Amino acid sequence: MGSSADSSTRTPPPNFAAGGPDVDLAERIARLAAIAADLVQPGMTVGLGTGSTADAVIRELGRRVSAGLVFTGVATSSRTEELARDLGIPLTSLDDLDRLDLGIDGADEIDPNLDAIKGKGGALLYEKLVALSCEQFVLVATTEKNVELLGERTALPVEIVRFGWRQTARRLQERGYPPELRMSPENREQPFVSDNGSYIVDCDTGPMDDAEEVAAAVKLLPGVAEHGLFMGIARSALQVDPAGTVIRRERTQE
Ligand code: A5P
Repeated sequence: MGSSADSSTRTPPPNFAAGGPDVDLAERIARLAAIAADLVQPGMTVGLGTGSTADAVIRELGRRVSAGLVFTGVATSSRTEELARDLGIPLTSLDDLDRLDLGIDGADEIDPNLDAIKGKGGALLYEKLVALSCEQFVLVATTEKNVELLGERTALPVEIVRFGWRQTARRLQERGYPPELRMSPENREQPFVSDNGSYIVDCDTGPMDDAEEVAAAVKLLPGVAEHGLFMGIARSALQVDPAGTVIRRERTQE
């Protein structure tokens, strides 16, 4: 089963660890989580993301479930499933639903059109499968995750099947995206293994002038299960700035 990994950021975003100049990071994330949780209405089916920001939203939803809110979640990782169960949030499987009403998930980078890089937490495959099944998919992140071009700060996570993984990594290298095998945060001698039983390589794409083209090229390579480019999936993003103000952004271009 997968767990969080942290090998793909090249340069930490400014103020990220310390929070903003006015409000500390935990308070900012709590404000963001409260507003994101307001999106969940009684009776909804909701995709529950993976990562520290999604965790904060899930914890807030857990409090609301304790106070009487009724909804059903679909977890995007074993880690999220465990958290949601601990909080008493009822869960179902993606295969038991045609569509989900809403999905809420974090991001590693968000561009001006709400295209995103995800996968630093190692759950990108299940996250994408859930996100694509949602009527409305909303990213939740601090504004420090904003970039002009995807790939500016973060390597692109690519989930690859374990069989022949070195060959797949070589293909990525030859295509111009040097890969680094992600190691387990618990045991740096062992590769990280996703919930799907795959490896993840973090690929140095550099800032991408045409992320759609990169997404298509990577997806075509045999051995690639999925990549962390979430193109055209999010219609909205809720983001908290360093002063603790939560901003809602909408996708502008199709
Ligand atoms: C999980 O695989 C990722 O896609 C996360 O959603 C993403 O890395 C954001 O995580 P944080 O909210 O912890 O920054």
